Amino acid sequence: MTGLLVQGASAVATLAGGLRRGGAQGDAGMVSEGAPAIACWEGRILAVGASGDVEREIAAAGLPINAFRRLDAGGSLVTPGLVDAHTHLVFAGTRDLEWQMRARGAGYLEVLAAGGGILSTVAATRAASDQELMDDARRRLAEMLGNGTTTAEAKSGYGLDTSSELRLLALIGRLGGEGPVELVPTYLGAHAVPAEYQARADRTEAYVAAVIGEQLPAVARQGIARFCDVFCEKGVFSADQSRRILGAAADLGLGPRLHADELAPSGGAELAAELAAGAGCASADHLAAPSEWGVAALARAASVGHPVVATLLPATSWFLGKHHFAPARRFIDAGIPVALATDLNPGTSPTLSLPLVMSIACVEMGLTPVEALVAVTINAAHSLRLGDTIGSIEPGKAADLVIWDVPSVQQLPYWLGARPARTVVKGGRVVFERG
Ligand code: NIG
Ligand code: FE
Repeated sequence: MTGLLVQGASAVATLAGGLRRGGAQGDAGMVSEGAPAIACWEGRILAVGASGDVEREIAAAGLPINAFRRLDAGGSLVTPGLVDAHTHLVFAGTRDLEWQMRARGAGYLEVLAAGGGILSTVAATRAASDQELMDDARRRLAEMLGNGTTTAEAKSGYGLDTSSELRLLALIGRLGGEGPVELVPTYLGAHAVPAEYQARADRTEAYVAAVIGEQLPAVARQGIARFCDVFCEKGVFSADQSRRILGAAADLGLGPRLHADELAPSGGAELAAELAAGAGCASADHLAAPSEWGVAALARAASVGHPVVATLLPATSWFLGKHHFAPARRFIDAGIPVALATDLNPGTSPTLSLPLVMSIACVEMGLTPVEALVAVTINAAHSLRLGDTIGSIEPGKAADLVIWDVPSVQQLPYWLGARPARTVVKGGRVVFERG
């Protein structure tokens, strides 16, 4: 059978209608009248709407209704598969000890400067075998799927030399090939300056030269990354260094995205806005501490048709014990499209759950549940330049769906820390069933 007919939903959040910003961030494209149903055919959405209309569309397409497997949503909410647009999926080890040090007052960048933080994960990751890295990542992906994620971005960035970065991207490619979670690979060689460079006076510049001169060309030659990311932050890579790296990446066909202003205003938001028109910057992530200018620049870019998605990572701020979160409401009021992601990584956000991230965003950033759902579906898809194929339930798009154990969008982030996904469909196939 190549068809799937989902019936018996209380409501379907279609997210139809493209990237959301401003007031539209609060529109999930709900269908709740006429016993909503979704027909999928050969991995794509064929029709969505009232049950009778959907059955008529199946007939109009000349398809036999008995070629459709029926799936009962049992009076629950159905949404598109969630899109996790920012993860550091492949790494070895944990950083629970560092987390305890931070609880006693050590700063995140202090730990990094002392050779810990990201660099301790780099050491563990370089030392791990492919098998270990794959097994750990597979376990994480299974848990992500069980939380409703059907597509995830995955960054390198724990290799920090040419062969180690290529290896991580190759593993990401293999994991994505295995499915069912689809992966979008991002090269993040400029995540930190590796230990080998630390003794040099010109360490950051020397490493930037290696990123641009060696790593990027090798990554581009192998065609194993879609995006290039940089940790643009005071004390890590400056806005000027980030601009040079992302410019070189764009010349090689890798789309720019950015860790921007996570801890302090560092010119990241401004840079993302500056790149928006030319190379096109898909996403500026974190933005917990943007400058006024940065917010204004992102608002301007969006208003002239070059929106950069603000991908906010509230689990990170929360896990770092910050009392200050990205100003999501200001972004929405300024017409900047907002996405949410886990930032899954061992240092600042060891979570595999987008529903949990939605809960934190609602509590700490004042998003409504509907705004949060928009942020993990259609807007997240656009932040990966996949807004035409995933992120909403519309005819022609991939049949990626989640049937939740709750009847409404409001209850999705409400049940804190729950695992509310009941059934997950990827490309028209049931790939996860709870219990
Ligand atoms: O997005 N800030 C830089 N990168 C990650 C943290 C990575 C790590 O600490 O291992 C982040 O928070
Ligand atoms: Fe990150």
